[in-house]
Amino acid sequence: MRPRTIRLAAGADLEGFRAAIRHLVAAGVPPEAVTWVAGDAASLFPEAEAAAPGSALALPRAVAALIPPVVMHRDRERYGLLHRLVWRVAGGERHLAEVASDPLVHRLALMRKAVARDLHKMHAFLRFRRAGAGEAGRERFAAWFEPEHHILAEAAPFFSARFPAFDWSILTPDGSAHWDGRTLTFGPPGRRDDVPDRDAFEAGWTDYYASTFNPARTNLAAMRAEMPKKYWHALPETAAIPGLVREAGRRVGEMIARPPEPPVKRVPARALARMAAQEPASLDALNAIIRASEPLVPGATQAVLGEGPIGAEIAFVGEQPGDQEDLQGRPFVGPAGQLLSRALRDAGIDRDRAYLTNAVKHFTFALRGKRRIHQTPGAGGVAHHRWWLERELAFVAPRLVVALGATAVLALSGRSVPITRARGPATFGDKPYRGFVTVHPSYLLRLPDAAREETYAGFVADLRQAAMLAAEAVPLARAAG
Ligand code: URA
Repeated sequence: MRPRTIRLAAGADLEGFRAAIRHLVAAGVPPEAVTWVAGDAASLFPEAEAAAPGSALALPRAVAALIPPVVMHRDRERYGLLHRLVWRVAGGERHLAEVASDPLVHRLALMRKAVARDLHKMHAFLRFRRAGAGEAGRERFAAWFEPEHHILAEAAPFFSARFPAFDWSILTPDGSAHWDGRTLTFGPPGRRDDVPDRDAFEAGWTDYYASTFNPARTNLAAMRAEMPKKYWHALPETAAIPGLVREAGRRVGEMIARPPEPPVKRVPARALARMAAQEPASLDALNAIIRASEPLVPGATQAVLGEGPIGAEIAFVGEQPGDQEDLQGRPFVGPAGQLLSRALRDAGIDRDRAYLTNAVKHFTFALRGKRRIHQTPGAGGVAHHRWWLERELAFVAPRLVVALGATAVLALSGRSVPITRARGPATFGDKPYRGFVTVHPSYLLRLPDAAREETYAGFVADLRQAAMLAAEAVPLARAAG
């Protein structure tokens, strides 16, 4: 078979790869006969030939799903590796992508994971800076970011959905993305110097971060893991970190000596929206925003934040705080929470080492006389809190997330699915953790006594299975600080 060179555009050329692979498989060209050249290395291979169109190629869903993220990986061998995968699948190994122990599949899965992690980092750590006026007097912002992989085109729609109201540009060493309020366009690479170093709002952010920093929870290793040092230069609030850490010991002493403080003051809605729009850079900063925000339905005493260590192996997501949780300000302390604690114990899970949180952070209820009757949060409320939940889980970085009941499934997956169908191991989209679905403990409380014991045993069995899955899940490698 004569050797060939297939030349694709620089970066992630998904269309080019698809066209080429169809052609190669239809023509029976094996991987060892092909050299793949991405645009940036084209000069090394002057004999490169353009990809020619081929006939349709039906691939199993798992293979088709692997191709786009791997194409975004910076590894120069990415197209060749995918060619080997497709070649073997077309040769009859239809379920190859599900064989996790196969060295090729394993390598591709790691590449996919690395790209997913890079996307998360870009969403979480990119910061816009004010860069003058844009079209028709709109405000204009710019950001500099250095992704590890070719993810700009994939990452950019997240920012146009989140920041539709101002014009912005994201500059990277590989290319740029631009939003004018209507259209997202892509252009040539930018330079770091093209983005202003500081803007007036940064001082506000740094002060805000300093005011939400909890010296009693200072853990440098965890801070670095949450927010790798590589990204610090882009984050205005990091300027405050060294001083805050130096001061932490003294401030903890003062906190212990000081009498209790009154509840947090609510932050004005506009200031809050701007803070949220800047993406909190730590769990503490995120929690400060949640704590200061108004409930969607008035009446709740306070926001109930997640509880448990960062890096917990398992995170449990419930529906929303109940009456007791609302009063005490802690998740799962009322009747359903006590039942959950018992089931966790019976399943051999240490509650204190797990992370517990809710899809919705405020108690939603209807008043009947003096009683506050729980109301299931609507899809709008769940969607409103979803962004927070996603950030929260990204900071905690568990290996496995357990959805307790249908509201949690909706919050984690964006889909409304009956628990009877979803129960067991699950995936919640392209997340860096595994998923698991089981019933909500309050469901057990509503059952007649006769049915409760059996259902409880099933619930404990679910929790045991979840613990086993979490123990075997590959730990989420945190980026080095
Ligand atoms: N139910 C939940 O879903 N969460 C709690 O925190 C308490 C009860």
